Amino acid sequence: MSESLPDGESRNLRLIGERIRARRTTKLFLKQEVSRELIRDAIEVARWAPNHHLTEPWHFYLLGPEKIKACASLIASLVRETKGDDDLAEFKEASALSMPGWLLVTCEKSEDELRQREDYASVCCAIQNLTLYLAEANVACKWTTGLITRDERLFSLLDIDPETTFVVGLIWYGFPKTLPTQSRKATSEILTETD
Ligand SMILES: Cc1cc2nc3c(=O)[nH]c(=O)nc-3n(C[C@H](O)[C@H](O)[C@H](O)COP(=O)(O)O)c2cc1C
Repeated sequence: MSESLPDGESRNLRLIGERIRARRTTKLFLKQEVSRELIRDAIEVARWAPNHHLTEPWHFYLLGPEKIKACASLIASLVRETKGDDDLAEFKEASALSMPGWLLVTCEKSEDELRQREDYASVCCAIQNLTLYLAEANVACKWTTGLITRDERLFSLLDIDPETTFVVGLIWYGFPKTLPTQSRKATSEILTETD
């Protein structure tokens, strides 16, 4: 970082800005598998996220093929139960099964509202660390908070206690078929500078 300058002119600063901007959500993945070693490395990096009182409130569940099958089937059941649409249920199950990698990220619950907010924020930071690290390896993610992430059957399936834990995101990951484009509001619209 010796050449980093506050005006953003240094190579490292430009590079990190480019990388953060280039990370994209996708739901279209190639069949190619992502190594578990890469995911373990990404989790090791993810946990360096800021966390107030050093609570380290996150937990990661890297799903294997049996659990993935069960989760895809649960997604289909949820569609049937909420929409009563068998075709859509089948489509959603097939689409879930096409996701090469599944990583569930949870947060510890807290009685204390402020601590709960702070812990949730930390887990979100950890997920961003993870997705940025993976993007560097050309692995894209889709962070989902769909119904399955709040369904008690998911908790039973993975032996997670819903009294003490909630799901922050189900992260589907893989090598992307395509990456969509995105835009953001101008910085001037979201920044207030005061005297
Ligand atoms: C907390 C959170 C929950 C999300 N849940 C979903 C979801 O349930 N379904 C979905 O399609 N995308 C979900 N996303 C992904 C967003 O739609 C995506 O980040 C957004 O479209 C911006 O795209 P980008 O990530 O490429 O910048 C979620 C993102 C976050 C941060």
